[in-house]
Amino acid sequence: MKIDSVKLVYFSPTQTTEKVLKAIAKGIGAGKVQDVNLTGPDSGPPADEPGEPTLYIFGFPVYGGRLPALAVKRFSKIKSSGMPAVIVVVYGNRAYDDSLLELRDLVSENGFIPIAGGAFIGEHSFANEHAPIAISRPDQKDLEKAQGFGTAIANCLRNMNAPDERKALRVPGNFPYREYRAPSGISPYTDTDLCSQCETCVDVCPTGAIHLDGEIMTNAERCIVCCACIKKCPGGARIREAPRIKKVVQWLSENFQQRKEPEIFC
Ligand SMILES: Cc1cc2nc3c(=O)[nH]c(=O)nc-3n(C[C@H](O)[C@H](O)[C@H](O)COP(=O)(O)O)c2cc1C
Repeated sequence: MKIDSVKLVYFSPTQTTEKVLKAIAKGIGAGKVQDVNLTGPDSGPPADEPGEPTLYIFGFPVYGGRLPALAVKRFSKIKSSGMPAVIVVVYGNRAYDDSLLELRDLVSENGFIPIAGGAFIGEHSFANEHAPIAISRPDQKDLEKAQGFGTAIANCLRNMNAPDERKALRVPGNFPYREYRAPSGISPYTDTDLCSQCETCVDVCPTGAIHLDGEIMTNAERCIVCCACIKKCPGGARIREAPRIKKVVQWLSENFQQRKEPEIFC
């Protein structure tokens, strides 16, 4: 099967998912690679399916063993009639539970044919120097694996006449998917002594929960605790102190330090 272009569709507040997808695309070596970044609050899906044969690579972070609900909502408008898709989840070294299965089902329902999948590891959104959970991942080794995965996908496509000739992609996970209650009403706040009002936090927030009104204001109801504002703040002014998150961070630090490796399914 000849593929003219690759489309990367992702939600990636702290950019680990984006890095993995870009490494896979590099390994595929397609002439044309398009970015559909669904992270921003105003991000819209590409309107129409392109005429040329396109491989879609979908990438989502894992939140509570599932796909982030907001990302699923943004993705839901992207439909196809039989284009091949690669599905990727990126998790913070705890577990990806049912997320890859959920992604496989989601893309299938929207008309894509999943031909391969991967679960990669990214620095945990809650990690910091006191809780170094999967810090600096994906690292060089992860990105080489992602690139190798891309090369394997390209070989597989070359030997394929049509994506539906393959047997259905099997990935780990259970249905019904595990329940996940997203944290609500808790958000980082701004230490005004450290804040220079540069508005980086406003720009990187995927839900538009932060704005400047004399000082930096955060709408806790909109916050999904993705921690992009904390990781990107140049002055270290975004602070996260919610007891529920503190407990989770402690639990993660105590139990999930042992390095996990990427897994590939095809
Ligand atoms: C609200 C929330 C829930 C998360 N749940 C999980 C989880 O269940 N398992 C896990 O290993 N990592 C979990 N993580 C960590 C992210 O999956 C991980 O840091 C990922 O690399 C973030 O992707 P991004 O950089 O593309 O935003 C969670 C992160 C957040 C913010």
